[in-house]
Amino acid sequence: SDVVDFHGDHQAGIVTEAQDRMCFAAINVLTSDRNELIDLLKSWTKACANLSQGLPVVPDGVGGGSRTAPPIDTGEAQGLSAGHLTVTVGFGRSLFLDADGKDRFDIADQLPDGLIELPHFPGDMLEDGRGGGDLCIQACADDPQVAVHAVRNLIRMGFGTVSTRWMQLGFGRTASTSPDQETPRNLFGFKDGTANVRSDEAKALDKHVWVKDGSWMDNGSYLVARRIRMHVETWDRESLDGQEQILGRTKVDGAPLSGGEEFAAPDFSMMGAGNQPIIPIDSHVRLAHPNQNDGVRILRRGYNYADGADTRGNLDAGLFFIAFVADPANDFVPLQNRLASQDALSEYLLHTGSGLFAIPPGTTEGGYIGQTLF
Ligand code: HEM
Repeated sequence: SDVVDFHGDHQAGIVTEAQDRMCFAAINVLTSDRNELIDLLKSWTKACANLSQGLPVVPDGVGGGSRTAPPIDTGEAQGLSAGHLTVTVGFGRSLFLDADGKDRFDIADQLPDGLIELPHFPGDMLEDGRGGGDLCIQACADDPQVAVHAVRNLIRMGFGTVSTRWMQLGFGRTASTSPDQETPRNLFGFKDGTANVRSDEAKALDKHVWVKDGSWMDNGSYLVARRIRMHVETWDRESLDGQEQILGRTKVDGAPLSGGEEFAAPDFSMMGAGNQPIIPIDSHVRLAHPNQNDGVRILRRGYNYADGADTRGNLDAGLFFIAFVADPANDFVPLQNRLASQDALSEYLLHTGSGLFAIPPGTTEGGYIGQTLF
């Protein structure tokens, strides 16, 4: 089937198989009326359940309404398959406490511990208009038209209540979330997602991905988004040896430099020429590996992006990094600090966008997204 169940303990779009296309939007909430926000979340929930089944936002929403009013659904997904669409909704810190420190929706006392203000990381060049958001919508599908249709229609349903803050399209997954999926490649041409946390690792998911604290966030997670521009022109002039030394894996097979096939465990203690470690000290996989980070693991679910060229003719292309983590302050932040300051790969990267969102648990039929918060 091409339908992913919208309902469940956890929201879809986290451990469900990563699809190939993504549309991500960060949203401003314009109202200060708690009930208006709740009503919006209720109507989004119903719409998401329909969209996930390949239906319009309401059944017959394209041609079945009044002829003198605009159609309820915009229509561009009519006749397309559900495309494994998943829609994942999150809450930004500013929903709890806005820029003026105001608690617009009477929820500040439930601001979850994990929803921190992300620090400035070494080398960050965040662009205005690519950060923050009161809400986020991550729509993933096999077909970009299906993903964009979902986001567009949800925003449209909230006309007057929400506006779009920033948006990103992604066109090729850079991670696998299931052992059945082939490892895809990022725009540096390397296999990406080999050592990811997978859907069949129940224990690891409970430890590293799902929030388990008895609060309204129980069974939820945190979504970290980073728009990472990759200097592909510079990278493409690096030798094959050089590229492999920077990543710590082989380019064609994605195997650790210490030997074996793709999924072999890397041996960081193995020494090579000149008594130097075979997997270099400043390589990405060594620095990102759990044994260098107090056992921290993250669930990566990012996408390649290419947004045209800059004025010098260099591609604005890279990786829209998305990770799901249980405790951003203690997993993502130290990991990213380490990579940004020591990783040989960081010379080729520029972080230009950022967001952190609390992802509430999944909904059951009749419930709505974020119900445990309100
Ligand atoms: C592993 C590429 C950014 C965390 C890898 C691998 C590649 C890669 C090729 C090896 C295959 C794999 O296990 O998936 C990239 C590129 C990035 C990027 C091109 C930026 C554009 C990041 C960031 C983080 C991160 C920002 C976290 C803050 C990890 C982790 C692993 C990994 C945890 C697995 C390490 C292991 O357990 O062996 N990355 N990565 N990466 N990356 Fe990245």
